[in-house]
Amino acid sequence: MKPVILDVDTGIDDALAIAYALNSPELEVIGLTTCFGNAPIESTTRNTLVVLEKLGKMVPVYAGADKQLKGGLKKYPTHVHGEDGLGNQVDRTPEKRAESEGAVDYIINQVIKQPQEITIIAVGPLTNLALAVKKEPEIASLVKEVIIMGGAVFTAGNVTPYSEANIITDPEAADIVFSSGLPVTIVGLDVTMKTLLPREALTDWRDLKRDAAHFFADMTSFYMQSYETHHPGIGGCALHDPLAVGVAIDPSFVKKEEWSVKVVLEGEERGRTIAHTEGGPKIQVCTHVKSETFLKHFLGRIF
Ligand code: BDR
Ligand code: CA
Repeated sequence: MKPVILDVDTGIDDALAIAYALNSPELEVIGLTTCFGNAPIESTTRNTLVVLEKLGKMVPVYAGADKQLKGGLKKYPTHVHGEDGLGNQVDRTPEKRAESEGAVDYIINQVIKQPQEITIIAVGPLTNLALAVKKEPEIASLVKEVIIMGGAVFTAGNVTPYSEANIITDPEAADIVFSSGLPVTIVGLDVTMKTLLPREALTDWRDLKRDAAHFFADMTSFYMQSYETHHPGIGGCALHDPLAVGVAIDPSFVKKEEWSVKVVLEGEERGRTIAHTEGGPKIQVCTHVKSETFLKHFLGRIF
């Protein structure tokens, strides 16, 4: 079992990733850390606790960054994830609260306590990780692996023609993480846009006699609606965050190439992730995915 810290900005596909990770015996999710992103930090933390309650799972939650490293007013993607971040399906205030320790200190402390053991799966903006590596640079050589959903290295972005949502939300943070020496694997739009959860899957979830499955079907239906608006006729949604979890479970779902990666910080291409050979730490960039194999695995685990 791999000890895992899952860093989320919950978010509909983050919720799917949480369920997939918690139902996978290969992974031991020791903590969930939250970041602003798909919604403000209060909402993403609450959503994480709500998802855990719906799934009937107990994992400690540590709240993290409420804003990007460098200024700017953040607009939240309510058209993609709803006003509440979960497709307007949040029907409760969770009973549990986040722990008193913050996400950044939690990450640092766990990595130092278990050197070369911890896998971090980060599926939101990279603010928490950047703050952690800035505060304690030593963790770069002590983490086992960092699997990131973010970036569009050899393909187009999904927020601008150049940038992917998690990276454009905090480009400075992403640049710090990619140049830190952390052992990073990028699971970007290059591969996640090739994973499609078909709408029919939601019918199967609704047939299950489980509150959690209905909750997930309703929020994912909202997500699919926004996909339909942007990609008419697509018939489903991409499984961005779940694929990062999938790669932690079984790296053979993807093929990787080794590159240095920099983030464009200025101008119209801000947030773009560029692969280069000009020097700097090497990163694994996922370039191909066995979509069918991954989808089957995900569907077999989600409930
Ligand atoms: C990423 O952006 C967020 O909206 C999703 O949760 C995912 O992490 C996809 O670009
Ligand atoms: Ca996310």
